[in-house]
Amino acid sequence: MRRIGIITSKGGTGKTTTAINLGHGLALTGQKVLVIDCDAQRNIAVTFDVQGRKTLCDLLQNGEVEIIQVRRNLYVVDSGGRDLAETEMMLAGKKQRETRLTLALENLNGCDVVICDCSPTINLININALNFVHEVIIPVSMDYLAQEGARQTLEIIDEINQFSYGRTDLLGILATFYDARTKLSKEVLDTLRKHFTDRMFDTVIRINTSLREAPSFNKTIFEYSPLSRGAFDYYQLTEELLRRGRTQAVAGA
Ligand SMILES: Nc1ncnc2c1ncn2[C@@H]1O[C@H](COP(=O)(O)OP(=O)(O)O)[C@@H](O)[C@H]1O
Ligand SMILES: [Mg+2]
Repeated sequence: MRRIGIITSKGGTGKTTTAINLGHGLALTGQKVLVIDCDAQRNIAVTFDVQGRKTLCDLLQNGEVEIIQVRRNLYVVDSGGRDLAETEMMLAGKKQRETRLTLALENLNGCDVVICDCSPTINLININALNFVHEVIIPVSMDYLAQEGARQTLEIIDEINQFSYGRTDLLGILATFYDARTKLSKEVLDTLRKHFTDRMFDTVIRINTSLREAPSFNKTIFEYSPLSRGAFDYYQLTEELLRRGRTQAVAGA
């Protein structure tokens, strides 16, 4: 079972869009995929128009959860929204507060890939997610601040690796919101490729209006606009992820 976290400390870089469309892309190839929404904003649940009776909050507090099937081969866990902040406070006083998710999902089987869609903060929920996952994808949007976000995230992963039981390897940095018409996009992508070399995904996610519109129709890009650039890019990412097996993830992030 591959366990993949999508995380960076900057908001609005395409984390949730990637979790949804990579998740559905993998599901369409026949992989059984579970997406766990680790963000109080509940964007995953909202996109699929579902509400979990037992959410990530219940999972962290007492190990109970409702796994909701949203598509063929695609399942989600609702974050529980604002209750997540309360859960975090509750966790703070508990033993094994950083590995609750890993322990709660110890017996999870029957799925091929678990994707954790994280929030852009470093809180106990994300530390739990980072301890649970084996690989991370860091989406970086094509502006300079985002590059700083990538650097910070790498530092954070290093820190977490120091006290996590397993290892969290960097599967890849994903360029998002790429706009071929702007010099800035090209410059940022060049800089990132020079700096991170093979730690970058070859796939680049371009700016695409359909990607922005799809969630308001409760659809993934493959349903909303299967011939769009967005669908093409996320299809490419799906293929690349399947090619880059766990063993190819770069050790030491
Ligand atoms: N490649 C893209 N092109 C255009 N809009 C995008 C693209 N990726 C994401 N968006 C839109 O940008 C906003 C932020 O993306 P989101 O995936 O929610 O970011 P995050 O989860 O990192 O905060 C959303 O409205 C989303 O639909
Ligand atoms: Mg998000």
